[in-house]
Amino acid sequence: MNKLIVKGKNKLYGKVEVKSAKNALLPLIASCVLLDFEVGFLNVPRLKDVDVLLEIIKSMGGKYRYDDDVLYVDCSTLYNPEIPCEEARKIRASIFLLGSLISRFHKVSTVRPGGCNFGERPIDMHLDTLKKLGVEVSNGEYLYLRTDKLKGSKIFLPFSSVGVTENLIMASCLAEGETIILNSAKEPEVVCLANFLNRLGARIYGAGTSQIRVEGVKKLQPKIKYFKPITDRIEVGTFMLCSLVTGGEIEIDGADFIHNTELIKKIHNNTCKIMLSSDKIYIKSSGAGSGLGFIKTAPYPAFPTDLQSQILAYSCFLRGTTVIEEGVFKTRFKVVDELKKMNADIERVGSRVLVNGKTELYGAEVTAPDLRGGASLIIAGLGADGVTTVSGLDVIKRGYDRIDEKLRILGGSVNEG
Ligand code: UD1
Repeated sequence: MNKLIVKGKNKLYGKVEVKSAKNALLPLIASCVLLDFEVGFLNVPRLKDVDVLLEIIKSMGGKYRYDDDVLYVDCSTLYNPEIPCEEARKIRASIFLLGSLISRFHKVSTVRPGGCNFGERPIDMHLDTLKKLGVEVSNGEYLYLRTDKLKGSKIFLPFSSVGVTENLIMASCLAEGETIILNSAKEPEVVCLANFLNRLGARIYGAGTSQIRVEGVKKLQPKIKYFKPITDRIEVGTFMLCSLVTGGEIEIDGADFIHNTELIKKIHNNTCKIMLSSDKIYIKSSGAGSGLGFIKTAPYPAFPTDLQSQILAYSCFLRGTTVIEEGVFKTRFKVVDELKKMNADIERVGSRVLVNGKTELYGAEVTAPDLRGGASLIIAGLGADGVTTVSGLDVIKRGYDRIDEKLRILGGSVNEG
């Protein structure tokens, strides 16, 4: 039952609703370690990565519960700053706990985190920047962090890393003095985290720009009971591309189109019609368009690396050439070999791939190499002739809630098998 059976060429029609973003929820949940009261997050999807992080929090003495799609997290009873090894290896997001745990307990122990299998995922920048706030790190296979007191500092990020920016926000919002993060990540998920903490009394300024200033406060207060995270721009983008490869017409409810500007710019006018409103995207295909030219992934607001594998699958269905350069995770191209099994014509040279379209893709037995690679194979399967069997459904479930069910409601033939 760890497979999806995708029968191609069924047009997608209708409405689909997207939930809160995985990459917003993970740091939000990690930031609850800073709180001694319960908060509820609204519109929450059921995702494996989220559940693993919640289990880590539970193993350290915290509590959580779901009430339909509201997730309540209560870290008032947290007592143990040891991230269990097995869970830490399962998800990369365990790294976000470093900032909040060191702030609350002044010590943390863990192992190096796991994550998606698309290449090296170093944590040097996380550790180096925490050191600037006064943290001592003993760095081997096991990590021990300790501090007498966190003190604000001016920190330059060599790369505008999302996770490092979020970790530093969490570590500094209760630190002594002022922290300035230069070349900070501008992703909407960073803004979402800052908004949440500010609603509880933190003083974080400039989130969404390349310079964030955090004035340390003594304590965060239960000024709000509920918080609605931003919706998942990657889930939105994935559904847009699923619909296009089938020649369909769908409405995506809950989508904030501003967060998908680069994707919309790329596919707009390419034989599809897009209509945007404050919380909906309507997209209608009118046949296969032409190749997308050059796309380079880079930190927000540029084209997101988390949609690279999906647009790669889409570009196989377009007439002409698309060149994609991966500017964030240079080796994130494991899905290429899987797409080739479906007859895709893709050449890889270093951190670039060249897609020669249009090829008729046909169904094959393929394996999700990572979370977004899995989504890419679903897109390819929806547009291909015949039946595609995508193994590794558990990998896809890390970041997509009931994707098969949602696609079936739209008329797709996607079933667990
Ligand atoms: C987050 C997202 C992930 C997305 C990525 C880039 C979450 C849970 N995950 O991951 O889905 O693909 O942003 O948008 O939000 N780097 C280092 N050293 C470090 C940390 C990062 O060299 O200590 C490098 C990475 O290898 C990568 C680049 O910095 O090349 C950016 O990675 P980063 O933004 O940190 O990604 P994550 O926060 O891990």
